[in-house]
Amino acid sequence: MQYPKILLVVCLLIFSVALFSKCGSNGQPSTKDPRGDAYAGMQTCIACHQDVFASYTHSNHAKTSWAIHDTVLDKTAPSTRPFYFQDSSRVVIEEGNDSLFQSYFVNGRKTVSNQFDIAFGSGEKAQTYASWQKDQLLQLPLSYYSSLHDWANSPGFPASHARFERVIVSRCFECHASYVEKEFVQSGPLAVSEKLDRNSIIYGIDCERCHGPASEHVQFHREHPAAKTPMYMVSLRSLNRRRQLDVCAVCHSGNDQATQRAVFGFRPGDTLSNFYYPDFDARNKEPDVHGKQLQLLGMSRCYQQTGMTCMTCHNPHDEGKGTNGYIATCMNCHRQSSHALEMLKETRTQDARSGMQRPDCLDCHMPLQASKTIYFSNSTGAKVIPYYLRTHRIAVYKDSIQTSQKE
Ligand code: HEC
Ligand code: HEC
Ligand code: HEC
Ligand code: HEC
Ligand code: HEC
Ligand code: HEC
Ligand code: HEC
Repeated sequence: MQYPKILLVVCLLIFSVALFSKCGSNGQPSTKDPRGDAYAGMQTCIACHQDVFASYTHSNHAKTSWAIHDTVLDKTAPSTRPFYFQDSSRVVIEEGNDSLFQSYFVNGRKTVSNQFDIAFGSGEKAQTYASWQKDQLLQLPLSYYSSLHDWANSPGFPASHARFERVIVSRCFECHASYVEKEFVQSGPLAVSEKLDRNSIIYGIDCERCHGPASEHVQFHREHPAAKTPMYMVSLRSLNRRRQLDVCAVCHSGNDQATQRAVFGFRPGDTLSNFYYPDFDARNKEPDVHGKQLQLLGMSRCYQQTGMTCMTCHNPHDEGKGTNGYIATCMNCHRQSSHALEMLKETRTQDARSGMQRPDCLDCHMPLQASKTIYFSNSTGAKVIPYYLRTHRIAVYKDSIQTSQKE
């Protein structure tokens, strides 16, 4: 995976800062968890779960949001090229006071200059940024697009001019972070807006986001170091299939549904439909590849005829197993298929002989597809830059082999 240098350096340094800044000298967290006493905080898990913790730190769940600290940014080089809009105004990435800014120039005059404060997205595919303005976060107009190794207009932003006023709401944090405290304030006669408490943010998707509050678990095992049976901890494996899927579907069934309440409160064993309003329109829509992994998988015969869950193929603690690892999983079930065996052989021999990339199971049966809801554009808006994802509807596709996006 090719990461741009700016992201890599920032990622690594910030991550270590974020992980250890909350620890006192004894390695115990020095601050209380903003979610309340039931939560122990991620640092407490390290002592007993080193291996899981170590692999987790490389996962994109861990890196999907972070605060950009001033001290780290002086190690990065800003882009030198200005980004022009249709009206010839431009945004320039500038460095100053140990921070990075996106500055807007209209007719040669600087009109806005907003600091990079928070990054959303691991940068696996893209990363977008936000800047604090009092208690609100405003999205910056330029996002980083990894496959281009370049900046692009943020998704849904106009090509005519730069936009700096789009508010990032707490809903983004519900899927890209572990917590943020919010308050509603009257912002007009008929309008309310959110005030976010920046000190309450827990960046990344932490252990307790998936496993539920763990204070009692930690306390018990500290007091009973010899106990090998986990106490006060839901075993995700022992949940029924629907509930196991729900643990992931909280964030992987799309961001277009209305929520009944913040999904921060979701705990393993909870029922997803208590958090989202039913989507009565869903039957008439083809689920988008962005965010709708649950629905797409549900349309597959592999899923319908087995007890498959997300964990059949994914271990959420690691970086992903690579193409060969996923193909091995397909073969766990498709060893009887002469077609699959033939295709497997072909992919391998061609690879060895010419080094050429032959389509594999994933290219033909889980092809990359462009999202219809999220896409980026270049500076004039003339060129649409698609956001490609693997469809989770495993099926036979006619001419949809898309290998060009593979790295
Ligand atoms: C003092 C030691 C200790 C601490 C701290 C600790 N655990 Fe555990 N945990 C255990 C032991 C012992 C087990 C059972 C053996 C095993 O699976 O490693 C366990 C098991 C688990 C399991 C597996 C449950 C199952 O049945 O599948 C999960 C999940 C878990 N812990 C999560 C956490 C999280 C999250 C944290 C941090 C908030 C944490 N633990 C902190 C000792 C600890
Ligand atoms: C994105 C959701 C997610 C996050 C984040 C997460 N886990 Fe897990 N964890 C799972 C799932 C799902 C399983 C069950 C996997 C299985 O049984 O194959 C699991 C299993 C475990 C187990 C028991 C099995 C094993 O692999 O040893 C432990 C212990 C554990 N997690 C600890 C942690 C700790 C500690 C963290 C944070 C550093 C963490 N988890 C973060 C989803 C998550
Ligand atoms: C709290 C929200 C949340 C939960 C719960 C969650 N995910 Fe995710 N997941 C995300 C987000 C956000 C991303 C995108 C991360 C990025 O690249 O910035 C992601 C990315 C992924 C990826 C791609 C990883 C990669 O390396 O690119 C996989 C696979 C995945 N999730 C599987 C799961 C599974 C399986 C579960 C359930 C055990 C789960 N997720 C639970 C929010 C969540
Ligand atoms: C319902 C959960 C959900 C919500 C709400 C959500 N996202 Fe995401 N986002 C995801 C998932 C899941 C992925 C990765 C996989 C995909 O695109 O399907 C993702 C991917 C991304 C990525 C690309 C990460 C990468 O490198 O692959 C960015 C950037 C991003 N989201 C920003 C945002 C912003 C900003 C908001 C708020 C306006 C937001 N998201 C709201 C779930 C969500
Ligand atoms: C847990 C077992 C299991 C796993 C893992 C699995 N499948 Fe399947 N798959 C099935 C079953 C069962 C069927 C339906 C019977 C059949 O067609 O063989 C099926 C059907 C299919 C079909 C035919 C679909 C159709 O609509 O006609 C394709 C193609 C396929 N699988 C590809 C894959 C690929 C590629 C992978 C890996 C990414 C995979 N499967 C992983 C069990 C599985
Ligand atoms: C049959 C295997 C299989 C199952 C089951 C499965 N996935 Fe995937 N998933 C894959 C493969 C293969 C990829 C592509 C990985 C790659 O390109 O590195 C992928 C990629 C992803 C990504 C990254 C986005 C992208 O397009 O690269 C997310 C997010 C994800 N899966 C979430 C889930 C969730 C949530 C579930 C359960 C609802 C799930 N997956 C079930 C095989 C599976
Ligand atoms: C070049 C594209 C291509 C590749 C690569 C490919 N398939 Fe297929 N596959 C197809 C097509 C087309 C069909 C439908 C053919 C038919 O009905 O005879 C199919 C049918 C299937 C079926 C249903 C019929 C059966 O034989 O059971 C399964 C399961 C399947 N593929 C699995 C796999 C697996 C697993 C791999 C990787 C080892 C793979 N395929 C690689 C194109 C491909």
